[in-house]
Amino acid sequence: MTIRIAGIGTSLPEKIITNNDLAKSIDTSDEWINERTGIRRRHVGGVTSRMAIESGRVAMADAGVSPDDIDLLILSTTTPDQRFPATSAVVQSGLELSCGAFDVNAVCAGFLYGYVTAYGLMSIPGGPSTVLLCGSDSLASLTDWTDRSTAILFGDGAGSVILERHEQGDLLGWDLGADGNLQSILYCDHGDFIQMEGREVFKKAVRAVVGSVDKALSNAGLTADDIDVFLPHQANIRIIEAIANRVGIPMEKTHNVIADTGNTSSASIPLAMAKAQANGVLQPGAVVCMTGFGGGMTWGTAVVRW
Ligand code: UT7
Repeated sequence: MTIRIAGIGTSLPEKIITNNDLAKSIDTSDEWINERTGIRRRHVGGVTSRMAIESGRVAMADAGVSPDDIDLLILSTTTPDQRFPATSAVVQSGLELSCGAFDVNAVCAGFLYGYVTAYGLMSIPGGPSTVLLCGSDSLASLTDWTDRSTAILFGDGAGSVILERHEQGDLLGWDLGADGNLQSILYCDHGDFIQMEGREVFKKAVRAVVGSVDKALSNAGLTADDIDVFLPHQANIRIIEAIANRVGIPMEKTHNVIADTGNTSSASIPLAMAKAQANGVLQPGAVVCMTGFGGGMTWGTAVVRW
């Protein structure tokens, strides 16, 4: 059995905050933010369920499937609407689905945890044939907009994909990892804002992701030269450059949205995927490598044949 991504959809809230907007209220500048992160603007004001519903609707239309065709909904989010029900229940209702639904929280690596989970469930005899996998996060609501060490980084957004059984496409190799000893460098307590040791996260993320991509490629029996499209988590363009450089992937093979979105956590990889689709590089047979890292720390990689 093989599984392919049959449709992609995204959603970004209308309200935009530019670097120059931020520089009016905190001690920073467009030049500093752009040079150190590659971010120019970010969308804010999103509600996790609403963005997930919108992106899910677009993905279903892109794949040509109806709500009745969806056998399972997996929502990756770190910013659920409520403590419970799981936000996937709200999304299931909003999209008029009648299938099972659950949330995954692996912070910014959540989309990859969701992807591998979906693939595993689809591989069980009698498992779902068509899965809606959505990454949606509203990190702007957890951001202290007076703290220049975090306010420059985060934004809201959602991206969804439809996974379906098909003779074309497959998951060739994957890796999921976590190191709970690193909780203290990136976390958010109930009722508080995101706390982050930026430099530490930067260093640990590069190391973890490079190791993860190497493992997934080796599982797939491939090398970096085989990758046609590289879709890394969009946290900082310098992190993306460091990873691409160490793995040995030219930057031309990456497709980045970070300048316009900032770090949208679970949504960043499907948003980058939509950009790659718009750039016309997601052709049948292309080897696509998705990789990410997040609080926990968590990380993950999936190498797929399109
Ligand atoms: O999904 C995972 C989420 N998190 C991440 O991926 C974050 C990873 N880390 C990063 O992206 C970077 O560490 C940051 C963008 C957060 C910071 O960049 P950096 O190059 O590591 O800067 P730094 O913290 O080493 O600070 C360098 C200088 C400092 O000044 P001094 O001590 O050299 O005089 C800071 O005070 O830049 C200063 N600075 C700023 N200046 C203007 C720190 N933040 C700002 C700012 N505007 N926003």
